Amino acid sequence: MTEHRTHDVLVFGTGLAGLRAAVEIARKSGDAIDMGLISKVQLNRAHSVCAEGGTAAVLREEEGDSLDLHAWDTVKGSDFLADQDVVDRFVRLCPLEIQQLDHWGLPWSRRDDGRIAQRPFGGHSYPRATMASDKTGFVEMQTLYDVLTQYKNFTRYEEVFATAILVEDGRFAGMTVIDALSGKFLCLRAKALIIASGGLGTLYGFTTYSQTVSGDGQALAYRAGLPLEDSEFLQFHPTGLIPSGILMTEACRGEGGYLKNRDGDRFMETYASAKMELAPRDIVSRAEMTEIIEGRGLEEPNGLGYVHLDLTHLGAAKINHRLPQIREVCMKMIGLDPIHKPIPIRPVAHYSMGGIETDIDGKTRVEGIWAAGEVQCSSLHGANRLGTNSTAECLVWGAITGTEVIEYLDTSPPLADCAEAKVQAESDRIYQDLLQRNGNEDLYAIRTRLREIMDLNMGVYRTGETMAEGLEKVRQLQRAFREIRIQDKGRIYNTNLFNALETENLLLLAEVMIVSALARKESRGGHARRDFPQRDDENWLKHTLAFHTGDEPRLEYKPVAITKWKPVERKY
Ligand code: FUM
Repeated sequence: MTEHRTHDVLVFGTGLAGLRAAVEIARKSGDAIDMGLISKVQLNRAHSVCAEGGTAAVLREEEGDSLDLHAWDTVKGSDFLADQDVVDRFVRLCPLEIQQLDHWGLPWSRRDDGRIAQRPFGGHSYPRATMASDKTGFVEMQTLYDVLTQYKNFTRYEEVFATAILVEDGRFAGMTVIDALSGKFLCLRAKALIIASGGLGTLYGFTTYSQTVSGDGQALAYRAGLPLEDSEFLQFHPTGLIPSGILMTEACRGEGGYLKNRDGDRFMETYASAKMELAPRDIVSRAEMTEIIEGRGLEEPNGLGYVHLDLTHLGAAKINHRLPQIREVCMKMIGLDPIHKPIPIRPVAHYSMGGIETDIDGKTRVEGIWAAGEVQCSSLHGANRLGTNSTAECLVWGAITGTEVIEYLDTSPPLADCAEAKVQAESDRIYQDLLQRNGNEDLYAIRTRLREIMDLNMGVYRTGETMAEGLEKVRQLQRAFREIRIQDKGRIYNTNLFNALETENLLLLAEVMIVSALARKESRGGHARRDFPQRDDENWLKHTLAFHTGDEPRLEYKPVAITKWKPVERKY
């Protein structure tokens, strides 16, 4: 018999969005709501700690910035696929989040006049990246964690792996999880769930993501019947360090860094002569790949093409003050000091614009379930996200969903039944089927192969042919997965089993991403097709929704909310 534990609300994922939601629930309810916080790593090791460059917010209207300008930049950056009502709400709430964090003691970088410092970022018409040096996410996480620990009414489910979201009669009923340390299989029950488990970036081999980011929240929600929206739009950040993929923050260019090809030319002149290195990421990443493909890049010993991120003209004082972590990482990882030498970089998988479909309040189609942060798709980023809008989104929708849940708990019906048969079926799926597999296929080889396929077939540029080939290969891997061998048959801290569960999730999401991308016969934002190179507003100004069927994903579409700006050609 599975052990059941009950809380008022579960927060699945404890990065910026999850912690912000938990803090909002604790403080607004006066610590009256009992929360279960679920994280497969320690609470403070979520991938948000890796956010570097900043958080977008309009703080300087008197100096020339405006909410309208932030909204316009976001909509244009999204290649007009963002829902404009969502963008409008977002830009209004960002400044409040910065002020709130300031009141909670976050040590923002400061200008000489003592005001919070901001710097330029790609696609933004005003320097509105609010930062703490180049460690913004880390500092934001520490601040939220500090505030959270002032409250008492929460249980930490750390190093706890979520396996399923349970829905009964259209309402959230609970989650099944494995506690790594004890090996116990638990059913956590609650009236409400906030999914804040982040992205899916380890679908790719060359990625900025921590190895823990395996799309679990998206996969669990999808299996539970929630549609995934706009999955075809995966963001490639222009500056991933060669050969690891570690993020070289866009702040390097915000602080004045140049991108140069093998001849030392600032090639962005050809692609975005007004914004140069600070064009939006989709445009800069395509420019870099074009330089590499057309022979103007450089090549590392394993054949990986790259270009240079050159900071040498910024000088030691600026690099040490504004980009200390970048210098440290370059020196430790590749023995290169960016004060003296340009950094080798290329586009790297960085962010998923798509995610679990929600409305403007972060509410999903299932009663009692909300989603916030990267795992969510409220249609804020459309086809391409602007840098620093992500940490801002986590804070804004963490706060919104926290408030929503408090209101829901005031009037919600009693706890939904959690059918024991379903819990047993999930336990059997894991312990009687998956854990018992003794086939000949190597789980880790499947995971490595999946990443190679995604790097090759679902990169910055795609065609129908490369994507169809990728889909076929992913399906072969799905079949091979049925024949894996799990060597560790034990229950305690079974990372072999967790790897299998993660790989199963990633294989599912790869299929959704490719099927959604194959169907979209146009190029828009992060989805650049050689065979359909133009944006096609007549046929494709719409969001993709992918539904789980047990077989191929079923696709539907929904309109984009255009309240103010009609799509025009994007020029930078
Ligand atoms: O380049 C960066 O610091 C990343 C920021 C972001 O993805 O928003």
